Amino acid sequence: MSTPAQTAESRAGDTVLVADDLKKHYPVRRGMFGQGVVKALNGVSFSLERGRTLAVVGESGCGKSTLARQLTMIEAPTSGRLAIDGEDVADADRARIAALRRRVQMVFQNPYASLNPRKTVEDTLGEPLVINTKLSAPERADRIAHMMRIVGLRPEHAKRYPHMFSGGQRQRVAIARAMILDPQIVVADEPVSALDVSIQAQILNLFMDLQDQFRTSYVFISHNLAVVEHVADDVMVMYLGGVVELGDRRTVIGRPRHPYTRALLSATPAIFEADRRTKIRLQGELPSPLNPPSGCTFHQRCPYAVERCRNEVPMLREVEGRQVSCHRAEEVGESDA
Ligand SMILES: Nc1ncnc2c1ncn2[C@@H]1O[C@H](COP(=O)(O)OP(=O)(O)OP(=O)(O)O)[C@@H](O)[C@H]1O
Ligand SMILES: [Mg+2]
Repeated sequence: MSTPAQTAESRAGDTVLVADDLKKHYPVRRGMFGQGVVKALNGVSFSLERGRTLAVVGESGCGKSTLARQLTMIEAPTSGRLAIDGEDVADADRARIAALRRRVQMVFQNPYASLNPRKTVEDTLGEPLVINTKLSAPERADRIAHMMRIVGLRPEHAKRYPHMFSGGQRQRVAIARAMILDPQIVVADEPVSALDVSIQAQILNLFMDLQDQFRTSYVFISHNLAVVEHVADDVMVMYLGGVVELGDRRTVIGRPRHPYTRALLSATPAIFEADRRTKIRLQGELPSPLNPPSGCTFHQRCPYAVERCRNEVPMLREVEGRQVSCHRAEEVGESDA
């Protein structure tokens, strides 16, 4: 993990994506009087290197899918900068945007909804090839057969429709579709959350195998830290549209410095370390991004909150090898040490 500035200097060749202060504000009607603004994404910065996985975690409504829509260029951010493979998306004309979109593919939570029920697997996988490549029909058939084999589908599946598959197989089809143009980046939004636990591991392994083979970079979105632990190189914890903690997996999960990260871990028994004495329970609901709290947006739910947290917005800063936005980060978790 590195900041955008470091990346530009030292690892330019390896950085496939840079998000710099991305914001997405949705204007909405508010009551009978005038407009409000939902700050769904409120200043998110990170960079992603080739072949690595950034996991994005946080409660429902914290802005994960909104981030995914900006990264995949489904929506344009309200402000901030997005660069794919060194190319600034805001500067790109329509033809370039189309080219960049091919490099960033998406896998959704529910493959049944994201796959066309009237298309066979062969047609689903063939379509991106027809649109984006000059491959001949036999070449496309080869590519489709190859991709199906790689994701663990059998040749006879080619003529089948989505409803004829199990959930796990359908997600394999969706992954094959995302991978068929050999994208640099795959943004996966809760890709295993709808699957049986026994199938989840298989699909996670498939993601990992594909990454080994193609050096694809992943932005892997999940509300479940136990899932993230298996796939992530780096972890970004989001709260109410902002980043509260960001760093490599071992640092963030092994020794969290933000009370919110600790609360998420406390709620994940599979990786909550028994020797951590202080379990943090999340109290109350996620506040509305229409009317976020003053100061630190987490202060109303935070057991560490002091006066300063109510008044002063904590900046993301480096503490013990990770980025964290908490005035009291140095004290968080010290009692466990
Ligand atoms: N088009 C929109 N117009 C208005 N508000 C929106 C829009 N899209 C998202 N929001 C709001 O932005 C916030 C973030 O939503 P988002 O879907 O990104 O959250 P999420 O982290 O993906 O949640 P989940 O885990 O439930 O999928 C929510 O408060 C949501 O209601
Ligand atoms: Mg979502």
